[in-house]
Amino acid sequence: MDLDRLRAAGLVVAETLDAMEAAVEPGITTKALDDLAAAVFARHGARSAPQLDYDFPGATCISVNDECVHGIPGPRRIAAGDLVKLDVTVELDGWYADACRTAFAGEPSAEAVALATAARDALERAMAGATAGAPLNAIGATVEQTVGERGFAVCEVLSGHGIGRRIHEPPDVLNYYDPELSEPLVEGQVFTIEPIIAAGGGDVVEMDDGWTVRTADGSLSAHAEHTIAITTGAPLVLTA
Ligand code: MF3
Ligand code: CO
Ligand code: CO
Repeated sequence: MDLDRLRAAGLVVAETLDAMEAAVEPGITTKALDDLAAAVFARHGARSAPQLDYDFPGATCISVNDECVHGIPGPRRIAAGDLVKLDVTVELDGWYADACRTAFAGEPSAEAVALATAARDALERAMAGATAGAPLNAIGATVEQTVGERGFAVCEVLSGHGIGRRIHEPPDVLNYYDPELSEPLVEGQVFTIEPIIAAGGGDVVEMDDGWTVRTADGSLSAHAEHTIAITTGAPLVLTA
């Protein structure tokens, strides 16, 4: 792994998320948010990884309220109180980085704030424990515990992943504890941690568009994601 080039890709992701997050407000369409992202990509010579690897019909994934992941940008207008998940993955000179933030439009409900905070805290805590030699499944254990103690659920079928020369590489980085996955993390290993959580149950369904995944019970979903590189101390957060 070339950490300098991964970091360069990660900086494009962070700049894109800053631009999109600043533009989230009632009335804007998800397509307009996606166009902002495409402009940042173009300025850096970066490409949309979902487009490149999966023919995804958008530069970024934008998922609103009960939508968890892989929402397609389009004519939908963001409404006051909406929870907007901005998930950005770029390819820059053959290297990939991936991150997601949950943004609010206007005044969010107390539940929406608590949910988004739980996803972010789960990510922060899991990253803090992700050091060389620690078992891979400690990440899922930390995410599951943090989310559970707030009264929320993880969407178990959705997980983090290795990343580097492709958007999705081994290993899967689960958001719950699996006793089998005790292999130690290795210095230089690069993967995402991405709690994808729901205010109600963690079951999800795919929508008719063939991409968008939403909660089965219609409850709100939040998502926080970074791409990290493992060291003997705290991980490098490549998408910060
Ligand atoms: N960013 C997503 C992730 O965190 C990947 C989206 S690729 C798509 O894994 F094609 F499925 F949209
Ligand atoms: Co992502
Ligand atoms: Co990801």
